[in-house]
Amino acid sequence: MTSEPTLDASSMPTTRLPERAAVVDLDAIRHNVELVRRVAAPARVMAVVKADGYGHGATQVARAALEAGASWLGVAHISEALALRAAGIDAPILAWLHTPDSNFSAAVAAGIDLGCSGWELEAIVAAAREQERPARIHLKIDTGLGRNGVTADRWESVVGEAVEYQDEGLLRVVGVFSHLAVADEPTRPETDAQLDAFREAIALAEDAGCDLAVRHIANSPAIFSRPDAHFDLVRAGIAIYGLSPFADQASADLGLRPAMTLRATLSQAKRVPADQGVSYGLTYRTPSAGALGLVPLGYADGVPRTSERGPVRIAGRTYTVAGRVAMDQIVVDLGPDADTDSFLGAEAVLFGAGDEGGPTADDWARATGTINYEIVTRISGRVPRVYLGDGE
Ligand SMILES: Cc1ncc(COP(=O)(O)O)c(C=O)c1O
Repeated sequence: MTSEPTLDASSMPTTRLPERAAVVDLDAIRHNVELVRRVAAPARVMAVVKADGYGHGATQVARAALEAGASWLGVAHISEALALRAAGIDAPILAWLHTPDSNFSAAVAAGIDLGCSGWELEAIVAAAREQERPARIHLKIDTGLGRNGVTADRWESVVGEAVEYQDEGLLRVVGVFSHLAVADEPTRPETDAQLDAFREAIALAEDAGCDLAVRHIANSPAIFSRPDAHFDLVRAGIAIYGLSPFADQASADLGLRPAMTLRATLSQAKRVPADQGVSYGLTYRTPSAGALGLVPLGYADGVPRTSERGPVRIAGRTYTVAGRVAMDQIVVDLGPDADTDSFLGAEAVLFGAGDEGGPTADDWARATGTINYEIVTRISGRVPRVYLGDGE
């Protein structure tokens, strides 16, 4: 979670940004939510803000998403949902990943909808009794992902139990949902099988007496590639942060605007001779005499240590990381002709909107052998979040 104070940079020139910052453009979030709304209509939109809004700041993103027309918020943990309530957000929130230690009573008291994979029913009902208030649940069917959710063979009995509790006034089955495994690879056949299983599970629940307000299965890739998966509600995560869920499509191809820019002020620029070893292990050596620039962001800030030659944009040119990523810093080879005086204090951008050829989270994902989801989510609490477009 973000532990540093946040600043409003709307009126702040770049030079007044903190020396390292993840700048989050809330107008980009609003734009992306509006785009998802148009693509998903008439289905409504749940903005997924788990993991501190994929590293962008859950509360700020939630507010911007609701302003842009999202109807629901989605998180993994009850604690994340309670934090949104504590921030004064009263929109419908669904939390779906629990353990026997989860605080179901607090969730029921705060009017948080609970995903239910079967085993939680007793605990949720106990919480409803304690709070003297019916719990609101969304039954989750495992249609093939093999993570949480009720397996098909147990679905009928879990639905039956839930309906009994509903008849007793202890809970309301608000929704049925599931999660897709391969929607980011639209040609794979498993999504069809998952959707068939989902439709069957819905039919059974409705026949058993559930008056479902929302049926939902689509994540970001399915929002764009599977209109038949939209049902009543779509759960949009990565798309609202402006990143593409597809390996072969960039943000711009989908009309999305990346919301986060990771940047820092260069903390040193110095001339070195040819064959200068760089960073731990001396895995990089300068090919000629030239200049090195020091960027004060490292793996403690969430820059993946496994990145090889991740891109860094400085003064309109893209350089690559030279040598290993250290805990607090990375080095870039500025080349033989760099004027070191002009680089000290310059802005280094690791990733951002990608305008004018600038590097993106997709570039860092490729350089690291991971996905853009991980690149933005892992930026640590040591990096202050700065919000653009706040308070509009
Ligand atoms: C249950 C569930 N729904 C929706 C999402 C959002 O997925 P995406 O970021 O691909 O839109 C997630 C994220 O992993 C999830 O776990």
